[in-house]
Amino acid sequence: MDLRLDGKVALVTGSSRGIGLAIAARFAEAGASVMLSSRKAEALEEAAGSLAGRGGEVAWEVANAGDPAQAEACVGATVERFGSLDILVNNAATNPYYGRMIEIDVPRATKTTEVNQLAILTWTQAAWRSSMEERGGSVLNIASIGGLAVEPGIGWYNVTKAAVIHTTRQLAYELGPGVRVNALAPGLVKTLFARELWETHGEAVAARLPLGRIGEPEDIAAAALFLSSEAASWITGQTLVVDGGAMSMPSGGT
Ligand SMILES: NC(=O)c1ccc[n+]([C@@H]2O[C@H](COP(=O)([O-])OP(=O)(O)OC[C@H]3O[C@@H](n4cnc5c(N)ncnc54)[C@H](OP(=O)(O)O)[C@@H]3O)[C@@H](O)[C@H]2O)c1
Repeated sequence: MDLRLDGKVALVTGSSRGIGLAIAARFAEAGASVMLSSRKAEALEEAAGSLAGRGGEVAWEVANAGDPAQAEACVGATVERFGSLDILVNNAATNPYYGRMIEIDVPRATKTTEVNQLAILTWTQAAWRSSMEERGGSVLNIASIGGLAVEPGIGWYNVTKAAVIHTTRQLAYELGPGVRVNALAPGLVKTLFARELWETHGEAVAARLPLGRIGEPEDIAAAALFLSSEAASWITGQTLVVDGGAMSMPSGGT
């Protein structure tokens, strides 16, 4: 199975920590040149330092995923630095609100939509225009099992993740045969993003899961490498659930 990415250029949004950083590390180890991106320069510099000597070259660029102009600039900087953009991972997401969806305020709903949902389109548009239309490539969107189920507390976030899953199918239809577009739907993973959940309920969730533990960022990175590599060259439009079996339980989730 060809899981090497030698000669490929990858851009991962939201890659200063967590799942995005684990994906960037996996890609660099597989030989790709990798552009890291998130909102804070200091965190990016540290993340890039942690990847030094892992294989492929690593650079970083500050960009807010929810700002289309910054998407364009970051993709442009990637192509300028490395000569192309072959693999785009739309990983950055936000969840500024917790509570009943019926009570969410419009500013926080809008921010969630811009960063989690609209960014999937704008970053892919920028990648398509600057490199992928001509050279082909692969886009991987990070959704969530929340996009497949109803849950308390994070309703609007989950709606944006459901939109990520459908955007993946639509883009796959439009961008083939040159560009493949897939998604991952992680379950509960041990990162800062979900800390409150795994700190308070982690053990109980793990005990119920068929695979007996909550996820690590590396679990998601392994699946990301597969879907972004030549080994997945006949897979497009799909959402791969990586959740320790959460969606296979009688209750249908965690
Ligand atoms: N952890 C889980 O249990 C879980 C489950 C299902 C799905 N996911 C999904 O997995 C992805 C990664 O989450 P994670 O758990 O790895 O989160 P994390 O550890 O909090 O990392 C999030 C990354 O995104 C960056 N970021 C946040 N807002 C951004 C913005 N507006 N523009 C650009 N970058 C931004 C952060 O850096 P800055 O704050 O410095 O910008 C950081 O690098 C997300 O799409 C999330 O929805 C996570």
